[in-house]
Amino acid sequence: MRAAVFDRYGPPEVLHVAELPDPEPGPGQVRVRVRAAGVQPFDVGLRRGRMSRLPVHFPQTIGQEYAGVVDRVGAGVSDQRIGHDVLGSTMMNGNAALVCVPETNLVLKPAELDFPTAAGLVAAAQTASGALAELRVGPGDVLLVHAAAGSVGTVAVQLARLAGATVIGTASPGNHGYLSRLGVLPVAYGPDLVEAVRATGQAPTVALDAAGGIAIEQSVELGVDRDRIGTIVDDKTAAEQGTRVVRAPRDPARLAEVVQLAALGRLTLPIRAYPLAEVAEAHAAVEAGHGRGKVVLIVEP
Ligand SMILES: NC(=O)c1ccc[n+]([C@@H]2O[C@H](COP(=O)([O-])OP(=O)(O)OC[C@H]3O[C@@H](n4cnc5c(N)ncnc54)[C@H](OP(=O)(O)O)[C@@H]3O)[C@@H](O)[C@H]2O)c1
Repeated sequence: MRAAVFDRYGPPEVLHVAELPDPEPGPGQVRVRVRAAGVQPFDVGLRRGRMSRLPVHFPQTIGQEYAGVVDRVGAGVSDQRIGHDVLGSTMMNGNAALVCVPETNLVLKPAELDFPTAAGLVAAAQTASGALAELRVGPGDVLLVHAAAGSVGTVAVQLARLAGATVIGTASPGNHGYLSRLGVLPVAYGPDLVEAVRATGQAPTVALDAAGGIAIEQSVELGVDRDRIGTIVDDKTAAEQGTRVVRAPRDPARLAEVVQLAALGRLTLPIRAYPLAEVAEAHAAVEAGHGRGKVVLIVEP
């Protein structure tokens, strides 16, 4: 099978597509013929060598998100599974033509959702949904989302709006029109953020930091209760400021809920698609850190 691999830590160019043996599903697993696969900042960190606790063996496969079609099942799994369109999380092997995953990890892909969008939702949906639950975002809240135009931010702002919250989102000016179309009050990040938020006339009651830098300090300065400032990027500042680190663990049930909203057209995620052969370009786009929506690899068009 074709798979994205890297032979050493380094810049996007260390990635290439290699031919590897087809994997076989073990007991309780299914094999998925991957149609599309997400790329996320985690993958950039792995390829850069920043994930020291993970077992990396070169040539190392990569990728945490897949969407495709079940083509084989392992012992203990009904062969009725074969042919199902599915999506889900995996570990360091999703950017490949075939991936074996536990059956319990699968989420069924609704017919209304295309494979690239399905693959793109996997991590962002679980992270955003888990974060909003942990921060107890609900009606009457004013949520400030730092990095609102990225993949997690895009899903978080829409889920928060559906939950009845008013949403303020930080982004570069080029993404303000995009955020407005999602029903978000856009503000520019940077040193003037606190004044920009105050100028909206809304006082944030809860904040989600998907940006890092000074986002936590600015949320504190805006008067948000420290217990309702959650970060998914900056554990160190959270500890210093006494604010919350959001873990948002992988949760297929949570993913299925968000996928259903997307299938109903109540939630969107713009996709920036690259063929698998351009995995290095896709990584460079994620690493640049200024994208809108989600970068996805098309493995099988
Ligand atoms: N993806 C996940 O499921 C997941 C899970 C756990 C943690 N995280 C972490 O969460 C962060 C965001 O992930 P993502 O997948 O949403 O990333 P992403 O899609 O690459 O989006 C990054 C966003 O950050 C914004 N940004 C860049 N510099 C900023 C700054 N100084 N202040 C505020 N915003 C800034 C950009 O906005 P502009 O384009 O408008 O500049 C861009 O839209 C990453 O650090 C990632 O490691 C992600």
